[in-house]
Amino acid sequence: MTHAEDAHGSSDLLVVANRLPFDLDADGEWHRSPGGLVTALEPTLRARGGAWVGWPGRPDADPEPFDDDGLAIRPVPISADEVAAYYEGFANATLWPLYHDVVATPRFERSWWEAYRRVNERFADAAAGAAADGATVWVQDYQLQLVPQMLRERRPDLRIGFFLHIPFPPAELFAQLPWRRPVVEGLLGADVVGFQTAGGAENFRHVATRLTDATRDGAGLTAPDGRAVAVDAHPISVDSSHLDGTAREPDTAKRAEALRHELGDPRTVLLGVDRLDYTKGIDVRLQAFAEVLGSGRLDPAGTVLIQVATPSRERVEHYAEMRDDIELTVGRINGEYGAVGRPVVHYVHQSTPRDELVAFYRAADVMLVTPYRDGMNLVAKEYVASRPDGDGALVLSEFTGAADELAEGAYLVNPHDLDGVADAIVAAASQDADEARRRMGRMREQVLEHDVERWAAGFLEALGVT
Ligand code: ADP
Ligand code: F6P
Repeated sequence: MTHAEDAHGSSDLLVVANRLPFDLDADGEWHRSPGGLVTALEPTLRARGGAWVGWPGRPDADPEPFDDDGLAIRPVPISADEVAAYYEGFANATLWPLYHDVVATPRFERSWWEAYRRVNERFADAAAGAAADGATVWVQDYQLQLVPQMLRERRPDLRIGFFLHIPFPPAELFAQLPWRRPVVEGLLGADVVGFQTAGGAENFRHVATRLTDATRDGAGLTAPDGRAVAVDAHPISVDSSHLDGTAREPDTAKRAEALRHELGDPRTVLLGVDRLDYTKGIDVRLQAFAEVLGSGRLDPAGTVLIQVATPSRERVEHYAEMRDDIELTVGRINGEYGAVGRPVVHYVHQSTPRDELVAFYRAADVMLVTPYRDGMNLVAKEYVASRPDGDGALVLSEFTGAADELAEGAYLVNPHDLDGVADAIVAAASQDADEARRRMGRMREQVLEHDVERWAAGFLEALGVT
C-alpha cells in the first residue's frame, strides 16, 4: 500500500460505508473486515478504480489516506465515545434490532441519535471532499442513512445512490423510531434508493409517503423538493464464477476430503457459517439438530455439525449474551451426544480464510442458513456457487432475502417452527442424488447468472453510470 499523492477531490466513483474493506489493528496492521458488504463491494470498486470512504475499524484511529492496488482508501476517524454511541448504540442496538423484526428489543437513546447525526455529517464531509465534479457516490447501509441528504446539501452536483444491505421494516415497526422522519428525509436525498427485496422497497415507499410530503411516481417517488427518487429492489449477490472456480480446483476437493476425514468420515456433515449475530438463528439450528439426534432420526455416530462463527460486535450487550448461550448449548449437545474424541458439534469462533471456507462448503452435505430475519444472506449463495458437483442441500429460512431467489431448490423453513426446521434437516440429509442435482441445479442457475458484478452494474446503471 502506498500513500496517495492527492487525497481529495479527484474520485469519480466513491463508495461510502461505515467500514473500510480493511480494519486497522493495535499494531497498525490492516486486516480484511468481516461481513457481506465488504465481500460484495470490494472487488467491484477495485475493478472500477474507485475510492472507499469509511471507518478504519479502531476507535480514535486516524490513519492517512492511501491507495491499495487501484482502490483509494479514505479513512474517516471515529472517537471511542462515538463508537459506543453511534456504532454500538444507534446503529447496532437501535436500528439493527428494529430493522430485523425486533428479534431483540431496540433501545432508543437521544444521545445515540445525536452521535449518529454527528458521525453521518463527518462521512458526508469526507465524501464531499473526496468526490470529483459530477462524481457518483454510492452510500451503503443503515449506519449512514442521513448521508444522502447531507451530501446533497454540500454537493448538489453529485449523483447519489443509497443501498440498504439489511431489511427495511414494515411501517408498523419503523414507526417506533422517534427519529423516523429525519431518517426517511436522509434517504430521500439520494437519486436511487435500493433494497434487497421488493418487499423492502415497498415498505420504504409506504413509509416515505406517510411520513413526508413525498409522493408516488410509478415505482419511484417524487421527493418533497420535486426531485425524482428511483426506489427498487437490487438483490445483492456473490462472486459466483470465482467461487465456482475455486471449488473446482483439485486442491479444494482434496481439502474437503481431508476435512471429512479429520471429522472421522461421518456419513453426514452439516455446516453453519455466520457472523455471530442473534438474527442468524444459530440457536434454532443447534436446537433442531439436538432434537433430530435425540429422536434418532439422524445417528449421532454418523453425523457432524460444523458451526463457524466470526466474532462480531462483541461489546454490544445482546451479542455477548448470545455468545454465552450458544457456547453453553454446544457444550450441552456434545455432552449428550458426543463421545471422547468425537464431538457432534465442531464450533469455531474465528474468521476462516476464503479458500478454506469454500472447502468447508464443498465438504458439507447440508448447509444450514436459519436467520430469524436477514437482508439477503450471502452465505446461502456462496454455498450454492461452491457446489459445481451439483451435490449438497440448502436448508434456508424463508425470512432471508435469498429465499426470494432460491425457493425452488432450497428446503425452506420458518425458523420459529422448531419441528419444521428439524424435519427439513432430516429431509435434506436424506435426499437422493437425483433430488440433490435437481434442486442444486435450479439454485445454481440463479446464482451463477445473477452474480455480484451484475448487481453492482445494475445499481450503477440505475444511477446513470455505464
Ligand atoms: P452479514 O452481512 O450479516 O454478515 P452475510 O451472510 O450476507 O451476512 O455475509 C457474511 C459474509 O461474511 C459472507 O461473505 C461470509 O462468507 C463471510 N463470513 C461469515 N462467517 C465467516 C467466517 N467464520 N469466516 C470467514 N468469513 C465469514
Ligand atoms: O450487511 C450488514 C452489515 O452490518 C454491514 O454493514 C457490515 O459491513 C457487516 O454487516 C458487518 O458488520 P460490522 O461492520 O458491524 O462488523
